[in-house]
Amino acid sequence: TQHFIVIGNPIAHSKSPEIHAQFAAQTGIDISYQRQYCPDDAASFTALLEAFFHGGGVGANVTVPFKQVAYACCAARGGLSEHAKVAGAVNTLWLNTALLKNGASISEAIYGDNTDGQGLVNHILSLGWPLAGARVALIGAGGAARGVILPLIQAGIGDLSIANRTVSKAEDLACELSAASDVIDAHAISTCATSELTGAFDIIINATSIGLSGETLPLADMLTAHYAYDMMYGRTLPFLQHFAARGAQTSDGYGMLIGQAALSFERWTTQKVDVAIATAALHDKAL
Ligand code: ATR
Repeated sequence: TQHFIVIGNPIAHSKSPEIHAQFAAQTGIDISYQRQYCPDDAASFTALLEAFFHGGGVGANVTVPFKQVAYACCAARGGLSEHAKVAGAVNTLWLNTALLKNGASISEAIYGDNTDGQGLVNHILSLGWPLAGARVALIGAGGAARGVILPLIQAGIGDLSIANRTVSKAEDLACELSAASDVIDAHAISTCATSELTGAFDIIINATSIGLSGETLPLADMLTAHYAYDMMYGRTLPFLQHFAARGAQTSDGYGMLIGQAALSFERWTTQKVDVAIATAALHDKAL
């Protein structure tokens, strides 16, 4: 049995164990995947992670509020993938075997990747929405927004606008990412206040945390999109209702959740999973 965990605070709501159990069933790999609560401090998180890998654990996912802590932990140990570096956050960890072979200790070999943004891109592509050349608007400038920008640009989008309640955070994000990656150019990204975002976009993506708050975004009348995506999932999302009422195709972020999990599973096991089969099977279980 290969052991995996997802670390968070809170963690009881996490659907990752069921999702990975489906991948395991699909690929015939024998796994155990457990939810792991952790106190909200970096020392506890690092101690927990080290104990897990010392105990023979193969891979870990991390969720709120530990993605940045996990980034710092891996940066100081086994290293970071390009996506994790640019995102400034880690959601998937395993041991860097090359370092272990070179004599590194288990603690020194803890490596971090980020599959969130690629999970989003894969889901959008599986919906048949045209990403190549698309005019994309991204609302939000926090951790969730940061994590999807490099994968969107790598998917060949035409141009990107970032809108946020606090405009300076959108501007800072564009500059920071441009400094962190050769393929991101701050001059090619427009930024504005959410209420001032106007024009015709192909795809608009909500990466704010507003879906959880019951508030709504101040969207302009002159803002249109053919496709609207909310990275939140589960409940009725006002952002999607707004664009659906104006004729857009819409999707919540459930497919992104499965997509990022699939990429984690593939990194850990090198086995490819069928996301469509997993989505259908999990839907039948009302997950
Ligand atoms: P996450 O990791 O989910 O991205 P975050 O880093 O706290 O969380 O970022 C939250 C994002 O949602 C930010 O873009 C935030 O806007 P500000 O940068 O102006 O704070 C946005 N957000 C949260 N609550 C919001 C609200 N009530 N109205 C508009 N935007 C909101």
